[in-house]
Amino acid sequence: MALLSEAPFFTEKTMSKQFDVIVIGGGPGGYIAAIRAAQLGFNTACIDEWKNAAGGPAPGGTCTNVGCIPSKALLQSSEHFDHATHHFAEHGISAKEVKMDVAKMVARKDVVVKQNNDGILYLFKKNKISFFHGRGSFAASKDGAYEIKVGDDTLVAKNVIIATGSNPRALPGAAFDEENILSNDGALRLGAVPKKLGVIGSGVIGLEMGSVWRRLGAEVVILEALPTFLGAADEGVAKEALKVFINQGLKIELGVKISEVKSGKKGVTVAYANAKGEAQELAVDKLIVSIGRVANTIGLNTEAVGLKLDERGTIVVDGDCKTNLPGVWAVGDLVRGPMLAHKAEEEGVAVAERIAGQHGHVNFNTIPYVIYTSPEIAWVGRSEQQLKADGIAYKAGQFPFLANGRARALGDTTGFVKFLADATTDEILGVHIIGPSASELISEAVVAMEFRASAEDIARICHAHPSLSESTKEAALAVDKRTLNF
Ligand code: FAD
Ligand code: NAI
Repeated sequence: MALLSEAPFFTEKTMSKQFDVIVIGGGPGGYIAAIRAAQLGFNTACIDEWKNAAGGPAPGGTCTNVGCIPSKALLQSSEHFDHATHHFAEHGISAKEVKMDVAKMVARKDVVVKQNNDGILYLFKKNKISFFHGRGSFAASKDGAYEIKVGDDTLVAKNVIIATGSNPRALPGAAFDEENILSNDGALRLGAVPKKLGVIGSGVIGLEMGSVWRRLGAEVVILEALPTFLGAADEGVAKEALKVFINQGLKIELGVKISEVKSGKKGVTVAYANAKGEAQELAVDKLIVSIGRVANTIGLNTEAVGLKLDERGTIVVDGDCKTNLPGVWAVGDLVRGPMLAHKAEEEGVAVAERIAGQHGHVNFNTIPYVIYTSPEIAWVGRSEQQLKADGIAYKAGQFPFLANGRARALGDTTGFVKFLADATTDEILGVHIIGPSASELISEAVVAMEFRASAEDIARICHAHPSLSESTKEAALAVDKRTLNF
């Protein structure tokens, strides 16, 4: 394959470094795109500006530094604490005076993050990707190629993949100070357990971070604008989740309207109207604001090349992640679609393959969603309410973990697996899980849906005993009303 950099361009810029592919952003979308591009034989550069505490490079983006990885580290630590304080006794283990050293927990999380940063730097070397630490910005375009400035360097390529991610959305009039009003960043590095923690938004971050600090002893109050809880999840799962979370001690108020947030020496007060329209005030020590995220194009200097953004600042792309500029692609959080690390990665791979003339493909219908609370929540495909809205005739089958031997042995029997299959063809249309290891169990459903399996296909497959995955088989059997263990 002829590499694009063989064509001479920008010859007047003798200092320019020429590449086949330049990736701006080293999060899951960017670094994975760079690796795939390098695998395909392209001379590839990746630019990322994230700095660690010492000012050094920390590739991996939001996901590695202040997102997926650190949040799961804290969820794990706080779950151990919860087990030690609430569940060890039933196993005959007595652990008196269990204490949580928050500073140590946070330091462990930082080590996990660094291992991931270092892993990505190693992967850049292994794949012979030129890594540039700094902010990349468009300088010019000429003859179908683009000049990207990073520090004193000017990089040039005909193919540019933008993967600059997203930033947390602030409440109007309540900027993040990361002391009292916290984004995901501050929420992941609190120095002590707050006595009372407020959370605005009962989405994924609110529930995951709220769970961490509740398990460690904080009183957690979540204020949500929408009247329904977890509207994106299947209604049955959302109902079960709300019941379980309230039982665990999370206070969740739906249908609120925040009017004012004041931060002072003693903490934060939130003035809001409740679902009945009554004026309320919530005083908390710390407030996490997790009301969604916005695309990040800060510093990219998109105007220099005429890159098209929509009114919300998201880069406009087609189904193949092509922007309005030839050779310029955008992937991950800064384009349409769910803000998920694995979605960003799949787009990165697909774009690198499209640049190579291959048929990169992302199936948006089989992207799994996971919320890492306890119990975990995971789903793929359509929910029951979506099928009803779309007028699709379906059959539902459900199996509770209460009837699963492995779940009983684990002492973790909350929740169920639910299958939704086409009423005529039996093709699996959606699988929804709330319960232990839902994040792992969902993979079987993703594979099944990718291969357009029927519920009967899963029902006829031998699943190991005793395993949680038997619940998946049983839920598939339930579609045909013939569960064996329930
Ligand atoms: P990012 O990861 O944001 O990476 C963008 C990178 O580009 C950053 O390193 C940034 O510094 C860099 N950059 C930006 N502008 C420039 C520039 N001009 N020049 C150079 N570099 C630049 N998703 C999941 O799938 N599972 C989870 O469990 C999960 N947990 C999450 C928990 C939290 C608390 C948060 C906040 C998010 C979580 N997410 C999770 C979402 C996930 O983090 C994002 O979907 C994912 O990181 C998006 O990847 P990306 O590559 O598009 O962008
Ligand atoms: P989110 O979109 O999941 O939830 C935001 C919530 O805030 C919604 O319920 C919304 O109705 C509510 N809200 C919006 N404005 C409000 C207001 N003014 N007052 C009260 N409530 C308001 O966004 P979140 O939790 O900030 O997460 C951002 C992104 O990060 C998500 O898109 C998610 O995909 C990703 N993420 C993924 C995780 C995972 O995959 N496990 C974990 C954490 C984040």
